[in-house]
Amino acid sequence: MSLLIVCPGKEPQPWVEALKEKKPGLNIFVYPEDHNKEEVEFALVWNHPRGLFKNYPNLKVVASMGAGVDHITSDKELPEHITITKVVDDQLTKDMGDFVLSLVMNHTRKLTVYQAQKKDKSWDRTPYQRPHNVTVGIMGVGVLGSAVGEKLSGNGFNVLGWAKSEKDKKDMNTYCGEDGLEEFLSKSNILICLLPLTPKTENILNGDLFEKLPKGAYVINVARGEHLVEHDLLEMIGSRHLSGAALDVFREEPLPERHPFWENPEILITPHTASVTSAISVVPQIIENYEHMKEERLLKNVVQREKGY
Ligand code: GLV
Repeated sequence: MSLLIVCPGKEPQPWVEALKEKKPGLNIFVYPEDHNKEEVEFALVWNHPRGLFKNYPNLKVVASMGAGVDHITSDKELPEHITITKVVDDQLTKDMGDFVLSLVMNHTRKLTVYQAQKKDKSWDRTPYQRPHNVTVGIMGVGVLGSAVGEKLSGNGFNVLGWAKSEKDKKDMNTYCGEDGLEEFLSKSNILICLLPLTPKTENILNGDLFEKLPKGAYVINVARGEHLVEHDLLEMIGSRHLSGAALDVFREEPLPERHPFWENPEILITPHTASVTSAISVVPQIIENYEHMKEERLLKNVVQREKGY
């Protein structure tokens, strides 16, 4: 029996090497090379072609190469009996915390402003905000959101969390559901999106939501491009209701050359680099789940399909 890697547009070699190193006898196919579909029981994937897996009669597990699983759950032709797993990795979690802290510090200490002033050789101080005067609201307090909250709170920021259902977190006050959203937003000077992408969270970062933020709020999206209604963001920055945004994810990646975000000085663009999965770090949990599957034991980091995360 075999493991199939499917990651169009992404280099499979580091995964093949790390898998072989960890489990030398493992038979690995890399899509789209010729392979026997009946032999495949486990697939390791990133952005597979829609509908691909309906032709694999013995496939039991589809494992995401990353933390997000929307690229799998959005495939309506994925057979119901297949188990989906996601990556939960300490390095990935730490990287996300470090990255968001950098964006928050960059914004509060105005580093982008100084970078822009450089072209005019302008020596002009701008007032900055201290962490204890800034409240950061995190939408989505799963593994990544909680770690980001912990990091920001450890650096002196006031941290709030928002989730679909009630959560008890030590580093942040949490709000939940529609009822808690308005108060959560009204207090968030910086809003961070770390929600999973599901039909319920798609387009959640829209004009109605932005209006509930305090004037001058800043938005950070490190989740998925589809969370954001791009036109609403541009409008809210244009009217100065929002002071700007840092975006790491986009509806279309790479961000097309003609996209208006490129020209907007208040939008910081990074190329989906907040936390990038390392094959070496993640492969041990993939092999562990592969072995659990073979032994018919419970798998780790299983996605609840009805929830979508
Ligand atoms: C990256 O976007 C991931 O889902 O790991």
